[in-house]
Amino acid sequence: MSTQQKSFSSSLGAIMAAVGSAVGLGNIWRFPYTCGKYGGGAFLLVYCCFVFLIGSVLMMSEFIIGRRAQHTPVKAFQTLAPRHKAWGLLGLLGIITSFFILSQYLVLSGWTTGYVWDSITGALASLGTSAAPISDYFAQFSAHPWRPALFLVIFAVLVLVIILCGVQKGIETFSKVLMPILVLLILILCVRSLTLPGAVKGLEYLFSPDFSKLTGEGILAALGQALFSLSVGMGVMLVYGSYIPVNENIFSTAMWITVCDTLIAILAGIAIFPAVFSCGFNPAGGPGLVFCVLPNVFNTMGTAGVVFSIIFFLLLTVAALTSAISLLEALTATFSEHTHSRRYVGALLFFLLTTALGVVFSLSFGTLSHIKIGGLTLFDFIDQVNSIYLPPICALGTVVFLGWVMPDADVRDELSNHGTLSIRFYGLFRFIARYVAPLALLVVFVSGIAM
Ligand code: PHE
Repeated sequence: MSTQQKSFSSSLGAIMAAVGSAVGLGNIWRFPYTCGKYGGGAFLLVYCCFVFLIGSVLMMSEFIIGRRAQHTPVKAFQTLAPRHKAWGLLGLLGIITSFFILSQYLVLSGWTTGYVWDSITGALASLGTSAAPISDYFAQFSAHPWRPALFLVIFAVLVLVIILCGVQKGIETFSKVLMPILVLLILILCVRSLTLPGAVKGLEYLFSPDFSKLTGEGILAALGQALFSLSVGMGVMLVYGSYIPVNENIFSTAMWITVCDTLIAILAGIAIFPAVFSCGFNPAGGPGLVFCVLPNVFNTMGTAGVVFSIIFFLLLTVAALTSAISLLEALTATFSEHTHSRRYVGALLFFLLTTALGVVFSLSFGTLSHIKIGGLTLFDFIDQVNSIYLPPICALGTVVFLGWVMPDADVRDELSNHGTLSIRFYGLFRFIARYVAPLALLVVFVSGIAM
């Protein structure tokens, strides 16, 4: 029995945790700015293809492997391929990926937490409705010598406390109660954004594909974004898969999460792009896009905007929390399974390491901005590694494992809940897992890095 079983007792808890992992800053912060950077509509189209063709199949694969093996990634691969223990390395790579993603994720979550505070104090509301002061404010905020680091630490402590106090209740409540409120707020923001003057341009940008703008790098970024947003290709969903009870339908669970996650990303796009064009921001503005555009939208709403701003950034922080928790949970569970130590040891260890590294990445917007790797700041460098290098490699390994190494009968058995569910889609699933997904991952990855 794996150590994680202690964390989630109900089936709803496990599934909600997976939803909480998928929905986060990837949808609301990362998707709009990556989409903006690579040309809008064409990126969205490629992104959706990757999400449904590769991402959903990967999520099912991770659930299958995790639930079948009842172990954390390294042991899971070794258990299911007892004669080829080297597959454990794939699990290790996934866990290393989770480690780096968490370090980077803490930076963004720190910004979100900081913006909650700045909404409460009225600092954001005082910036007015023109692009320049709001952009300057974000630049100063992220480059400040200690404020982002302080908020990062506050956020990381929250993650640690929740992991230590029991993940289940908090995540269930969030996913059932707060997530719908977050979606409602995004819907209201969509309406506000769409009624701004000149909003149509933003919709055109998001929905009319201009393939001339889509580069090879953009296609690779779409793949990276699809994997990041669904939390696949790093072992997190594999760990959560081991919590999913035997009577739960893996196929419908994965599809449901994929659809919700994608809809929220698209809604975030509809809330952001019309405002980008209306308020005069640059759609390719990079990581600060959401942190600049949304305060501007809030400031067009008068006093209500202040309340909106507080609630929105608060809920965004909670959404980030459930994603960060999944990453720390994967690290903690793996560590305690291998070292037979108590959970708090691993949780504390990885909290300290990822927080320290996160602070370094955070400082690369200011104090450490002179340190460059291959011409990129530390943050941009880790962002590249986390989106276009590590997850696609892990994802490729995972689908190859499922499609070619795991016995077909085991996969069938797991997907059909030991023969109790009909799996009419199985032929298609198998075909994608064996041929389409590995080939697509390989082609996109090799051509992307060759550019
Ligand atoms: N999927 C999360 C998001 O969209 C980020 C994440 C990536 C969480 C990888 C866990 C693992 O914000």
